[in-house]
Amino acid sequence: MTGVSDQLDSSWDSNAAAWTATVRERLIESRRVATDAAILNAIRDLAPHRVLDIGCGEGWLCRALQQAGVACVGVDGSVGLVDAARTADPDGVYHVLRYTDFGGLNDLVAPGSCDVAVCNFSLLHDDIAPVLHAARAALRAHGTLLIQTVHPWSASDGDYTDGWRTEDFAWAERRFPQAMPWYFRTLQSWVDIVRASGFTLQALDEPKQPETGKLLSLMLRARA
Ligand SMILES: C[S@@+](CC[C@H](N)C(=O)[O-])C[C@H]1O[C@@H](n2cnc3c(N)ncnc32)[C@H](O)[C@@H]1O
Repeated sequence: MTGVSDQLDSSWDSNAAAWTATVRERLIESRRVATDAAILNAIRDLAPHRVLDIGCGEGWLCRALQQAGVACVGVDGSVGLVDAARTADPDGVYHVLRYTDFGGLNDLVAPGSCDVAVCNFSLLHDDIAPVLHAARAALRAHGTLLIQTVHPWSASDGDYTDGWRTEDFAWAERRFPQAMPWYFRTLQSWVDIVRASGFTLQALDEPKQPETGKLLSLMLRARA
């Protein structure tokens, strides 16, 4: 693991409380107006029985799915966030697992046992192929991978090339103690990594700000 990946992982330990409050108090406008509904609708359209939520954070998506009668298992590398998820949902299934250890996913989630694997704003590293390979193993035949991420065009800020960026959370109402490195990908790069990980891209959507039309996220749907 590189130093920058270590910083990315440790930021989610340092920022767990601020992130949990930010999500639960619904302080992120893009989530309120479009992206939460976009990922929920994309999952519900697939009518899954069991979903794997990769990088589940404090667990809002698992809770929402379970309330809709869909079984969900959440995995995340942040002990603080998984603790928050378990506290809010004592009957839920949440595991602490860092992407660097994702070879061990099969010990926690039986191979072929999930209909959908979802990564909601949770693929932030440069080397995500091992995560996608492990997701594929957890999926049943022809199961579906859903990735929602920041929209590359909106997030590019004039530099449309793959590479590391820094999120300082200056926009946040809560105080995030640690800046987060994250790896920016172009649209081509997202498509390439999904295909190279053994998936067939089926659909690409661009949830927008309903009033302004601003591109808020990129949603990729791919089949194992
Ligand atoms: C922006 S949050 C999104 C959380 C959640 N999916 C949501 O929609 O609120 C990114 C998540 O990815 C997780 N994550 C980042 N790097 C990780 C790693 N190396 N291993 C496991 N989880 C990681 C973080 O702990 C965090 O929960």
